[in-house]
Amino acid sequence: MKATADRRLHEQLVDGSLLLIPIPFPQKSHPSFAPSLGLSFLISLSLSMGSKAHSRFGPLLLRYVSLALAASSWGVTAGRLSPPACDLFRGTWAYDESYPLYDSASCPFIRREFDCLRYGRPDEMYLKYRWIPNGCDLPRFDGRDLLERWRGKKIMFVGDSLSLNQFNSFLCLLHAAVPGGRTSSNRTEVLTAVRFEDYNVTVMYYVTHYLVDVVREKIGRVLKLDSIQGGQVWLGADVLIFNTWHWWPTRGPAQAWDFIQDGKKILKDMDRTVAFSKALTTWARWADSSINPATTKVFYQGVSPSHYHGQDWGGSYRESCSGQTQPLNASTYPGGPAPQEAIVENVLGTISKPVYLLDITFLSQLRKDAHPSKYNGVHFQNDCSHWCLAGLPDTWNQLMYAAVIR
Ligand SMILES: *[C@@H]1O[C@H](CO)[C@@H](O)[C@H](O)[C@H]1NC(C)=O
Ligand SMILES: *[C@@H]1O[C@H](CO)[C@@H](O)[C@H](O)[C@H]1NC(C)=O
Ligand SMILES: *[C@@H]1O[C@H](CO)[C@@H](O)[C@H](O)[C@H]1NC(C)=O
Repeated sequence: MKATADRRLHEQLVDGSLLLIPIPFPQKSHPSFAPSLGLSFLISLSLSMGSKAHSRFGPLLLRYVSLALAASSWGVTAGRLSPPACDLFRGTWAYDESYPLYDSASCPFIRREFDCLRYGRPDEMYLKYRWIPNGCDLPRFDGRDLLERWRGKKIMFVGDSLSLNQFNSFLCLLHAAVPGGRTSSNRTEVLTAVRFEDYNVTVMYYVTHYLVDVVREKIGRVLKLDSIQGGQVWLGADVLIFNTWHWWPTRGPAQAWDFIQDGKKILKDMDRTVAFSKALTTWARWADSSINPATTKVFYQGVSPSHYHGQDWGGSYRESCSGQTQPLNASTYPGGPAPQEAIVENVLGTISKPVYLLDITFLSQLRKDAHPSKYNGVHFQNDCSHWCLAGLPDTWNQLMYAAVIR
């Protein structure tokens, strides 16, 4: 059962062999300063990414821990899963004419991989769905309120390109709240930063495939399951949102390491789910020993599902996300939960500091209609892993906002 689920996820990754966006690592590590992060900046970013297919790739990790959330009655809090007063993560999608939350054409922060309308997606129904949790309402995303609450703060998304997806969505939501506001941006090898000047709020994206380190040694690139050097940089943020998973099963040329180090052992390979679990445990120990809950809130972005196989949602084997125009209306996902969800829950459960799990897997599994498929402006033939913007990640950010204001 578990092996089947693992294989299915692996197949999805192979099918979507280009599912993860390569992140360029420029030669120089000097931060460059751009007066505003306009479309040209983003396009040049995409171009340089495209032309460096063999450069290192980075996953985005999203994780976020918050003391303020310690009193929350849902999510993973203080290392325990509390009984939910209202489970924000179970519910249904309903058509809502007032959606989407912003016009993608007027958001300067959408990478072309996610800019579906611009790249020809003909249907627009997928923009119009609102998530309705069972038994309560999801608060409206109030960008001005959030900027005010987080005045002077730094928010950092850490992880692979699913984190990048949520980061872009978050920037668009804030931008839509203060459309005339001044922004500035910076970028180094691993870090992109955008500041909303009027509020002195800095939103960042730190690229990492695995959260744990990949170190270049004499034998080659070594994925170190016990080591997190990036943590030093993350500690500079007031709000952290972590994520990793999609790169773990990757094999072949896109695999970003040559060996795995597990304790003292150097291995050519190992079970990828076990490796993921060990790395996440390393991260959990890091969070427990390094995070000061009085100053830093931590979220973990749950496992984001892909839609490459119709039979997962009761369709035919040949179906994929391509051509899907409506969400699934179901209280359980026919394909079952992603096997990594249980690992994430278990590992987060070992952390004594408050970490809030954005448990987005199920609600995203229903959104077979929300992927870019071929409308991604780059070379992906059928991207059923990332999500269009405007679109589903806006709901992930609404859920994060709900957690902040509770
Ligand atoms: C989903 O299914 C339920 C029960 O079958 C139905 O009442 C509801 O109207 C459906 N929702 C949508 C959006 O189709
Ligand atoms: C902006 O916020 C940073 C912390 O993120 C702080 O160090 C700095 O002094 C603030 N700048 C202004 C002008 O308030
Ligand atoms: C970018 O870097 C410059 C120079 O180091 C700094 O003055 C500016 O505040 C930075 N901007 C952002 C958005 O981090």
